Amino acid sequence: MAILKIARMGHPVLARPADPVADPTAPEIRQLIADMVETIVDAPGQGLAAPQVHVPLRVAVFLTPPEGSEQKRELVTLVNPRWRPLGGEQDLAWEGCLSVPGLRGLVPRYTRIAYEGILPDGSTLAREVEGWHARVVQHELDHLDGILYPQRMTDLKDLIFESEFKHRVAANGPQRELEE
Ligand code: NI
Repeated sequence: MAILKIARMGHPVLARPADPVADPTAPEIRQLIADMVETIVDAPGQGLAAPQVHVPLRVAVFLTPPEGSEQKRELVTLVNPRWRPLGGEQDLAWEGCLSVPGLRGLVPRYTRIAYEGILPDGSTLAREVEGWHARVVQHELDHLDGILYPQRMTDLKDLIFESEFKHRVAANGPQRELEE
């Protein structure tokens, strides 16, 4: 087990499409996933994609629902995942990213999606989800295609420093926040 170094915006590994994993149940993939889980717990974060730890493979882990929810949180690990929107509806919410430290941005995402991926035991997970769960999947799977959340933003005046975000929360009340 190891806490891995997180790549920051500007590193080429974050800007290229990641490669498919040939054998999702291979011991080195299991080790990578264990290290990624240890890394997001340490950060702390809500999710992490392998390119963020300098490994250009299609692996992502995330926790859902968001921190502070009354429901028990589930850790989802996906190898070679895919997703598609269900309908065209989008919503806006604040996101952060461990690879873009100190900033927050208001990002449009599809409200409902279907996703699937291979679990570490080799079985397939397929789901239809909405809201925050749909958002975290889109954010993490974007990492596998070399896309960071600012590239999804439609108005860069809403790309702000975390300290200013906290002022906005103090002024406007809690808003949904995604820290990955
Ligand atoms: Ni991220």
